[in-house]
Amino acid sequence: MTTSLGVAVIGAGMAGKAHAAAYRAASTVYAPVLPEIRLVAIGDSFEPLGVETAKRFGFERNVVDWRDIAAADDIDVVSVVVANSLHREIVEGLLAAGKHVLCEKPLSDTIADARAMAEAARSAEAQGLVARIGFSYLRSPGIAFMRQLIDDGRLGDLLHFSGRYWTDYGCRPDAPISWRYQGPQGSGALGDIGSHVSYIAEYLCGPAHDVSGGRFHTSIVERPKPLGQVIGHTGGDVSDETSPVTNDDYATFNARFAACVGTIEVSRVAAGHPNGLALEIFGTRGAARWSQTNPAQVEVMLHDEHADVAGYRTIPLGPAHPRYAGGWAMDAPGVGIGQNDLFVHQARAFLEEVAGVPAEASLPRCRSFDDGVHNMEFLAAVADSAAHGGTTVAVR
Ligand SMILES: NC(=O)c1ccc[n+]([C@@H]2O[C@H](COP(=O)([O-])OP(=O)(O)OC[C@H]3O[C@@H](n4cnc5c(N)ncnc54)[C@H](O)[C@@H]3O)[C@@H](O)[C@H]2O)c1
Repeated sequence: MTTSLGVAVIGAGMAGKAHAAAYRAASTVYAPVLPEIRLVAIGDSFEPLGVETAKRFGFERNVVDWRDIAAADDIDVVSVVVANSLHREIVEGLLAAGKHVLCEKPLSDTIADARAMAEAARSAEAQGLVARIGFSYLRSPGIAFMRQLIDDGRLGDLLHFSGRYWTDYGCRPDAPISWRYQGPQGSGALGDIGSHVSYIAEYLCGPAHDVSGGRFHTSIVERPKPLGQVIGHTGGDVSDETSPVTNDDYATFNARFAACVGTIEVSRVAAGHPNGLALEIFGTRGAARWSQTNPAQVEVMLHDEHADVAGYRTIPLGPAHPRYAGGWAMDAPGVGIGQNDLFVHQARAFLEEVAGVPAEASLPRCRSFDDGVHNMEFLAAVADSAAHGGTTVAVR
């Protein structure tokens, strides 16, 4: 196994800080003990943020130009956590410079760029490099437990699925314009959070065959320009000038998967739902549901209960559940888990693969860029459906 890995994070915004924190913690969970992880560089074009983030998370230095990370001899592994339209140039530059790359979702802002990135990843992998997209929810113990209930037949044959990701980061008309609100229809709520719920739906229900009923809506059609730097979903002072919102605040569609049908609904204007990912799956022998609001529990109902206690019961997640043991500094049931843990487990899965830990001894691997392309093709089929009055469109 490699003895030491130097890491860097490009983008110190909302998710970049989660990657920085995750690399710090990745070697504290699960087994085997990882090689030494050196926290080397934070790269952000907004220098004050890069300086602060490097200090706060214990990285040796910050840089303003990502090319300095590509050129650095002491860096092996890089997370790319900037606006989607910047992924391709930076990822390709890093791979050409011999770095292992973990890219945030969605893989890019256009399918053409995503395909080019997948091609670059194939060439790089032939040289021994690892290029991955994290799909962080695939290591959530609650979602893994739902999959286990499906796989071992306890829910019976699947009947239908409901997935929604309601957020409210854009529900106020004074939330400033940022890269998130600009791009074609389908690159808004659908690309931002629908990218998560779509791969989760396929993880639970099998590959998507087709989508129909695609509909987008832009509820707030212009937003004020910010007076300072916008980080993630944060507000701040805004100008009297506005810019148009060009993509979707809300998107909905239904899909036919290999195992069942389902409906997916995403929003960034669902007031009161800061991070409302909720999943429910129905089978011939019972049902299960999970929500990011209480991610340390899964609710399950099974038909073989006595009739007088039939109904959903709440299962607190603990060492009896997939990948819980060892995944937290204190891995007892009821200690609570959260979204930041998923970034730690994602970073660990990536480092395990780079370090040469065998797959059978590792967390589920991060996904390939080809999976990232498929994720975008799934969402492109929704956009196609929406553009043609909700018609049925095959998923490539
Ligand atoms: N997996 C998740 O749960 C999750 C959550 C949020 C965001 N994301 C993804 O992470 C990525 C970033 O999102 P965010 O919300 O953190 O964005 P953000 O706007 O908060 O941060 C982006 C940062 O990139 C910096 N930047 C801009 N151009 C740069 C350049 N050329 N070089 C270096 N830095 C540059 C900006 O200064 C900013 O600090 C997106 O792809 C998004 O989809 C994933």
